[in-house]
Amino acid sequence: MRSLIHRIGRGILLCGAIFLCSVPLFAQSNLVAATPPMGWNSWNHFAWNVNEADVRAAADAMVASGMRDAGYVYVNIDDTWEGQRDAQGYIHSNNRFPDMKGLADYVHSKGLKLGIYSSPGPKTCAGFEGSYGHEEQDAETYAKWGIDYLKYDMCSYLGIMKKQAPNDDQKQWQMMQQAYEKMHQALLKTHRPIVYSLCQYGFNAVWSWGPQVGGNLWRTTGDIKDNWDRMALIGFSQAGLAPYAAPGHWNDPDMLEVGNGGMSDGEYRLHMSLWAMLAAPLLAGNDLSKMTTATREILLNKEVIAVDQDPLGKQGDRISAIGPYEVWMKPLAHGEKAVALFNRGTTAYPISFHLRAVGYSHAVHARDLWAHKDVGMIQDAYTAVVPSHGVVLLRLQP
Ligand code: GLA
Repeated sequence: MRSLIHRIGRGILLCGAIFLCSVPLFAQSNLVAATPPMGWNSWNHFAWNVNEADVRAAADAMVASGMRDAGYVYVNIDDTWEGQRDAQGYIHSNNRFPDMKGLADYVHSKGLKLGIYSSPGPKTCAGFEGSYGHEEQDAETYAKWGIDYLKYDMCSYLGIMKKQAPNDDQKQWQMMQQAYEKMHQALLKTHRPIVYSLCQYGFNAVWSWGPQVGGNLWRTTGDIKDNWDRMALIGFSQAGLAPYAAPGHWNDPDMLEVGNGGMSDGEYRLHMSLWAMLAAPLLAGNDLSKMTTATREILLNKEVIAVDQDPLGKQGDRISAIGPYEVWMKPLAHGEKAVALFNRGTTAYPISFHLRAVGYSHAVHARDLWAHKDVGMIQDAYTAVVPSHGVVLLRLQP
C-alpha cells in the first residue's frame, strides 16, 4: 500500500510539474488485465521443444478455432527461447526463434498479443539466460520486439537470496519483492503496456504484496500437472484467496491442462469450471492445432468464459464442503451469481445448496452452463446429481 501511495503521489507530482495528466504513470498495472488474461502458453504441452513454427501454429489455431474471438488473445512463449547476450549485454533469442520481432509482427497481424518469459535470477528454471543484472536492457528489448506480456519466474533467484541473506527469511522475502519491483520499474520505463505475471509459486503470501510490485497476476501454487490429483489439489486449495483478486490483479493457480490427455473430458470440464470460478487467468496449455471436438467445446464454452471474465472482477470462493462434495459461489455483475457443484468423490452424488447460502433471499432464475439449458426458477434450494470428478455449473439471475 505504501508503494502504491508513493506511486500515486509520483504520478500527481509529475502531472503538476508538466500540466499534462492524460496517462498517469502509476496506472499501468490497472490499464492491462482488467479481466483475467486469456490466451495460450507453450510450456504445458511443448516444454523444452517449442519453436517459432509451433508458436505461429498456435496463433493460427487461435484464430481458426474461434478462440481469439472468444477472448484468448495472448500467445505466450515460456522458457527455452533464450539465446546468448551480446557484448553490450543485450539478450538474443536462440536459433529456434530466429526472428522475435518478425514473430511479434505476425502474431499482432492476427489480432493477438505476444508474451515472453524470463527470470530475476541469472538462469531460468530450464537453465537458460535469466535477466539478473540486465533487467532494464531486457525490458527494453521486449518492448522493441513488441512483447505484450512477461512471465517472470523466480527459479535461480532463490539461490541468490539464500547466498546473500543466509538464515534471514525476512531479508530474503524483501529481496524477492525488490527483484520483482526492479523488473516492474524496467517495464514501466518502456512505456509499453506489458502484462506482468509474477511466478514465484505463492511464496510469502504473494497475493498480499503482488499488486505493490506491479503484478497483474501472480502464481499462487507450484506447477500444475496433467492429472486429476494435482489439478484438484491446486484448484481447490485456492479457497480463501478471493479477497486478493480484483481488476488488474489476479491470483494465478497456473495454466490449463485441458486437452493434454491426462484427464477425462469430465475432469477437464471441472478444471475449466473451477478456474472460471476462481477468476483465474485462462491460458490454454495444449497443442491447439490438434484439438478434439470435446477439448474445443470445453475451451470455447462462452458461458463458462463469461463467468471467468465477468466485469465485476470478483473471485469465487467455497461456500460449503461436505466430504468431497463442494459448493462454490462467484458474485457476478448486476447481482447475478455463478454457483458450482463439484464432486471430488469417486461415485455420482446428489449435491444441494440453499439460495440463502449463496446470498439470495428470493427465487432466482438458473441456467446450466455446460448443458446450455435454462433450469427454470429455483425457489429455495436446488439439488443436482453430479458425476464423479464432475461439475454442475449454474448462472443465477435474480
Ligand atoms: C517453472 C514454472 C513453469 C514453467 C517452467 C519453465 O517450473 O513454474 O510454469 O515456466 O518453470 O522452466
